[in-house]
Amino acid sequence: MGPLYTLPAMVLSMCCHVQFALAWTVNNFLMTGPKAFLTYAGSVQVGAQSGIHECKHQFVWDRWNCPENTLQLSTHNGLRSATRQTSFVHAISAAGVMYTLTKNCSMGDFDNCGCDDSRIGQTGGRGWIWGGCSDNVAFGEKISKLFVDALEGGQDSRAAVNLHNNEAGRLAIKATMRRACKCHGVSGSCSIQTCWMQLADFREVGNYLKMKHEHAKKLEMDKKPVRAGNSADNRVAIAHAFQCIARTELIYLEDSPDYCVKNQSLGFQGTEGRECLKGNKNMSQWERKSCRRLCYECGLRVVEKHIEVVSSCNCKFHWCCTVKCDKCTQVVAKYYCSRKQGGRKPHNKTKRRHSARRQ
Ligand SMILES: *[C@@H]1O[C@H](CO)[C@@H](O)[C@H](O)[C@H]1NC(C)=O
Ligand SMILES: *[C@@H]1O[C@H](CO)[C@@H](O)[C@H](O)[C@H]1NC(C)=O
Ligand SMILES: *[C@@H]1O[C@H](CO)[C@@H](O)[C@H](O)[C@H]1NC(C)=O
Ligand SMILES: *[C@@H]1O[C@H](CO)[C@@H](O)[C@H](O)[C@H]1NC(C)=O
Repeated sequence: MGPLYTLPAMVLSMCCHVQFALAWTVNNFLMTGPKAFLTYAGSVQVGAQSGIHECKHQFVWDRWNCPENTLQLSTHNGLRSATRQTSFVHAISAAGVMYTLTKNCSMGDFDNCGCDDSRIGQTGGRGWIWGGCSDNVAFGEKISKLFVDALEGGQDSRAAVNLHNNEAGRLAIKATMRRACKCHGVSGSCSIQTCWMQLADFREVGNYLKMKHEHAKKLEMDKKPVRAGNSADNRVAIAHAFQCIARTELIYLEDSPDYCVKNQSLGFQGTEGRECLKGNKNMSQWERKSCRRLCYECGLRVVEKHIEVVSSCNCKFHWCCTVKCDKCTQVVAKYYCSRKQGGRKPHNKTKRRHSARRQ
């Protein structure tokens, strides 16, 4: 757990993070020892888990489906890659941690933190003033940054990319915040309102970052060989590469591997055996094409399986106070990707370019 206490020098030396890191050292009133660490560690863990949970939801019909074993954010597992997918993992994890800490703060879970009341009483606009409990994102941002960014110990371009994506995740929390208001005035006339800023549902943050993932940019580093150990050269090259990338955008360094196929060294299972969706009029475009994306374009076929689903039905309320239900079984059709007889043969006519981009 040691490394989590220390803010890596990297953060201080990188171009886009300089102001934040300096601001933080001034305000570094909290993380002074194990006690402070323990105060937040539980929330950080809950937050990171909610990030991963959201990742799985967002990618459920994608070839890469946010599998557990590719989620190690640690830089020490030898599997560090900086693909479009890992950019999302970093962003959503950082966002999850900031979100949970911010919520905890508003709920009064921490002694030293409360609602952001900096604007209370000020006029916000025509007919409304600031009031209520604005979520304290500045607090969530500070603490989450300290925990999450500290996982990135390196000085190289990968560390820089990961830190950038962490930051983009935290900015997504701010970008999706909304103003909520309450009416006041004679018999609900709403002649005056008080308003506060509140966090969006975390699902909305996930949707926002999924969109950023689709438009993620590949970072082109100068191909000049960097002399080993010369971190000054390295930093100049990194700062240069970052110059024209907005802080809100996700970035990556490497093209994604072929997520159709199992890749042991990446701990990725491939799409064989995955479920896809068919035949529901209500599906989104993305869901409707799931069988094509996961099975057909990966050289697999779709098999239909009839699955018995047991659920409660005919529920009756009995005085007082129980509910009794029957168990009903229903047979539903589900669809899965399955290997073709005679081996794999990618089917490359349909929208090959499009599908490659969206892996
Ligand atoms: C913070 O919130 C999460 C979930 O919202 C909760 O599980 C956790 O216990 C809270 N942390 C503290 C310190 O209360
Ligand atoms: C697995 O992924 C690595 C890294 O992308 C790649 O170099 C390797 O060729 C892949 N292996 C297979 C069997 O596809
Ligand atoms: C389709 O979606 C609408 C609204 O999203 C919902 O009310 C309806 O129950 C759905 N129908 C089916 C068959 O899922
Ligand atoms: C696609 O199929 C054609 C023949 O149908 C083949 O020549 C070509 O190499 C294939 N391309 C890929 C990317 O598999």
